[in-house]
Amino acid sequence: MQRVNYSKNVPVLRTERLILRAWREEDLAPLAALNADPVVMEFFPGTLSRAESDAAAAHVRAELEERGFGLWALEVPGEAEFIGFTGLGVPRFTAHFTPCVEIGWRLAREHWGRGYASEAARAALARGFDALGLDEIVSFTAAANARSRRVMEKIGMRRDPGDDFEHPNLAPGHPLRRHVLYRIRRPVGAWLESPRPVILRSPSEEDPR
Ligand SMILES: CC(C)(COP(=O)(O)OP(=O)(O)OC[C@H]1O[C@@H](n2cnc3c(N)ncnc32)[C@H](O)[C@@H]1OP(=O)(O)O)[C@@H](O)C(=O)NCCC(=O)NCCS
Repeated sequence: MQRVNYSKNVPVLRTERLILRAWREEDLAPLAALNADPVVMEFFPGTLSRAESDAAAAHVRAELEERGFGLWALEVPGEAEFIGFTGLGVPRFTAHFTPCVEIGWRLAREHWGRGYASEAARAALARGFDALGLDEIVSFTAAANARSRRVMEKIGMRRDPGDDFEHPNLAPGHPLRRHVLYRIRRPVGAWLESPRPVILRSPSEEDPR
């Protein structure tokens, strides 16, 4: 039987092929593996050690449980218990577009190229617009990160070159410092009729544990 972690306050979302769920201890090892992969981390300042990855996971997990939205762990039911993460976050740096809610993703390399990031991201967008009532969600990445930019475009986000910025957490001259910003406004019209993730558990329901 499918095992889903019904962590308190974390909505669990089901898409056609994926479950967006709360984090489990068993996710830490595969998360550390993807955070240590230089190809996955090509557009970040560096790979993460096991300790850095665990600390990041603890932070992400706490935020998801406190806010009821955040970076969900991704599972492919029947195939892979953990393939990476996707979801919403609140950037902690200051820029011309902050404060804001951003959407982001990171998957283990063996699961790239099957549309999983886009599928999970559409569910996270729906959550942001439907349940959280956000007016806008942004996403940003190093200008050279074509894969991530393609995901942004596929889910309906658009870039205005006038929004490009220098990431304040990277030193001047750092090769990744130039970032592009994509935005999506709360949609109207046809998007509202598009398929939504099934909510396997909403925080308002009694915790079934
Ligand atoms: C970005 C990432 C999450 C995409 O995951 P994914 O599940 O493979 O994404 P999808 O399959 O939904 O879409 C990827 C798209 O990029 C395209 N793509 C792949 N490589 C590409 C490249 N080198 N240049 C341009 N587009 C590329 C794919 O063809 C696909 O588009 P399509 O459906 O139109 O063919 C994954 O590559 C990843 O984890 N990268 C490392 C972490 C990262 O950079 N995160 C984002 C930081 S902001």
